[in-house]
Amino acid sequence: MENKKKSSFTGSLGFVLAAAGSAVGVGNIWRFPYLAARDGGGLFLLIYLVLVLTFGFALLATDVAIGRKTGQNAWNAFGSIRPKWGFLGKLTFLVPVLIMTYYSVIGGWIVKYATIYLTGQGEKAAGDSYFMDFITSKASPIVFMLIFLAITAFIVYGGVEKGVEKFSRIVMPGLLLMIIGLAVYSLTLSYTDAEGVTRTGLQGLKVYLVPDFTGLTFSRFLSILLDAMSQLFFSLSVSMGIMITFGSYVKKDVNLNQSVTRIQLFDTGVAFIAGVMVIPAVYVFSGMGGMTQGPSLMFVSLPKVFHSIPGAAGTIVGVVFFLMILFAALTSCVSIMETLVANCMHIFKKNRKQMSLLIGVLSAAASIIICLGYNVFYFEYTLPNGQPAQLLDIMDYISNSFLMPLISLLTCIFVGWVIKPKWIAEEMAIASPGFRREGLYNFMVRYAAPVIMLILFLQSTGLLGRLIALFQ
Ligand code: PFF
Repeated sequence: MENKKKSSFTGSLGFVLAAAGSAVGVGNIWRFPYLAARDGGGLFLLIYLVLVLTFGFALLATDVAIGRKTGQNAWNAFGSIRPKWGFLGKLTFLVPVLIMTYYSVIGGWIVKYATIYLTGQGEKAAGDSYFMDFITSKASPIVFMLIFLAITAFIVYGGVEKGVEKFSRIVMPGLLLMIIGLAVYSLTLSYTDAEGVTRTGLQGLKVYLVPDFTGLTFSRFLSILLDAMSQLFFSLSVSMGIMITFGSYVKKDVNLNQSVTRIQLFDTGVAFIAGVMVIPAVYVFSGMGGMTQGPSLMFVSLPKVFHSIPGAAGTIVGVVFFLMILFAALTSCVSIMETLVANCMHIFKKNRKQMSLLIGVLSAAASIIICLGYNVFYFEYTLPNGQPAQLLDIMDYISNSFLMPLISLLTCIFVGWVIKPKWIAEEMAIASPGFRREGLYNFMVRYAAPVIMLILFLQSTGLLGRLIALFQ
């Protein structure tokens, strides 16, 4: 019933673009570089690339194939295959709920920076404490978050995602060109600090690309692995039901092998280049000490890069850059909110307009609390990975580092041992010469993923550390 009302994508390109629109967002440009910088550059990059080619491929193929084969969204898909596993669909729904609470907060930061550059105040943003002063102020982050959220809710309310999709055909390639240009520029940077030490962009590139294994312990390796895996889930929008829903819109004549590869390539490509854009710049202006800044990294380092561009060009680049990333963030946030609205329409039997309003208001309330986490509700909590955290980081950790390994663990047990990988392979082989990398897929879902996800799940709760300590 529900399915008949759904539209489907026009061909493979439409699907790839829509999925890439959801996948490419602040995860690639904000989250990836700060994790890579914090986790030792090259080492994180190496681990991430290995994960993309193995886990990323297996998880994305699983989601998309389940969606297309069942024709259902995540809420119903698992239950429609095996009623006993219906709970898994409900569990995946929790992830977009959690992510929605803080995604629009970051969206608000981007709106703020776009406004600063539009009003020609980029120079201020290049100051060291500007970002901190902004997020710790009481009203401003809330106002900008509400603007971002209102635009998102307006798009979902009007059901105009199709229009947004068309627009993203222009903006996405534009964004890609822009970050390539900035990445090349970053490499040409050079700066001499107060102590007379000169650092160059190319030295920064080395930090980003060359893995440094010195002093690597098992527990540090696990913590980097967990960061990289959480980034993979977040960035590819897998194990959260989104790609299952997208899969359910894909026609049978689309070659899923090819689509999965393209989505991965695009998503990983954007993240990789964003790293080249941000990390050498951080290294040049703040040295190795600047690498551990965490979530503020992009907002502190890029304004310095723009500031170093002579004349008005810096402001123009700043405007265009923040408008483009704003757009990428919007397409992702629309996909998160659309999932919430579509599911709630189905659960509560209400129409799109009612549900968009309700979800919009609830999200605003939750996001206000997250914004206040930097002032009124400020506290310092240490996550099991040792990182200091405020409300935003805690939400991010619960959804990406804790819930998603759990969902992936259960999904892989379900596919690998209950319905068996052949079930997925059959769907992947439609409209293509066969399921490429089937052997790798089988190994991943049956053995590698369940074991690694269990380890990461235990690691995320801090239990693994305690277990290891017991045996030492
Ligand atoms: N993948 C998006 C990004 O990298 O910014 C974030 C995202 C989109 C997360 C959709 C969750 C989601 F449901």
